[in-house]
Amino acid sequence: MEVIVKPTYDEVSKLAAGMIAEFLRCKPRAVLGFATGSTPLGTYKELIRLHREEGLDFSQAVTFNLDEYIGLPKDNDQSYHYFMWENLFKHINVLEANVHIPDGMSEDLHRHCLEYEEEIFDHGGLDVQLLGIGSNGHIAFNEPGSSLGSRTRIKTLDEKTRQDNARFFKSIDEVPRYCLTMGIGTILEAEKLILLANGANKAEAVQKTVEGPITASVPASAIQLHPNATVIVDKAASGKLTRKYPGAPAMLDL
Ligand code: F6R
Repeated sequence: MEVIVKPTYDEVSKLAAGMIAEFLRCKPRAVLGFATGSTPLGTYKELIRLHREEGLDFSQAVTFNLDEYIGLPKDNDQSYHYFMWENLFKHINVLEANVHIPDGMSEDLHRHCLEYEEEIFDHGGLDVQLLGIGSNGHIAFNEPGSSLGSRTRIKTLDEKTRQDNARFFKSIDEVPRYCLTMGIGTILEAEKLILLANGANKAEAVQKTVEGPITASVPASAIQLHPNATVIVDKAASGKLTRKYPGAPAMLDL
């Protein structure tokens, strides 16, 4: 696993966007896995800039999102459909037909999950998957205790996740209790993983992910098994790491 510490969130975002852009330039039909939440917003902003100012072309790209709440229609401003169109897709030239986000309103959620897996497979698998991390160590909505071999499925959101995400809703009572999420097994099959974290509230989860044992109690620690995973964190999120990493504060003399 490669761990890169950057002084600021802005630099984390620019590095991540640059890596995704490089992938896309080398492989215009790349299958890109995207995440939602606050963390990737800077990366999406930079991808939009690269599209507008440097002609980064998404016209052949295929995208798959990690997860979606159950019970929120696509036009609900807290759905991940809405998030992705508002914060990325409507600003770039990706084709709507090439965008895949789990449908939390599907009439047959179990079948939908199986079909989502099949669609990823039919597109040749994920080339690169962008990940955030929950303060409880989740990736996508694979909450602590999730099977490290899990596939796309229905999950119950951890109370910690509901509390963390309540900031986006009027009250915690409005935060959905269930979601659809790619599994850890699904994520680990991507060719390349890029996990981002910023802020001191992620420092403990980052330390456990990078330096702790691989355990379902910290689902993100499963990325230690991946042969091509890069973790990019800002100074605050690196605060509890005990080893030295490229660009780590001690080396940068920040
Ligand atoms: C969302 C997702 C989640 C978030 C995580 C961090 O698609 O996969 O795992 O990445 O909850 O969320 P933020 O970035 O809002 O702190």
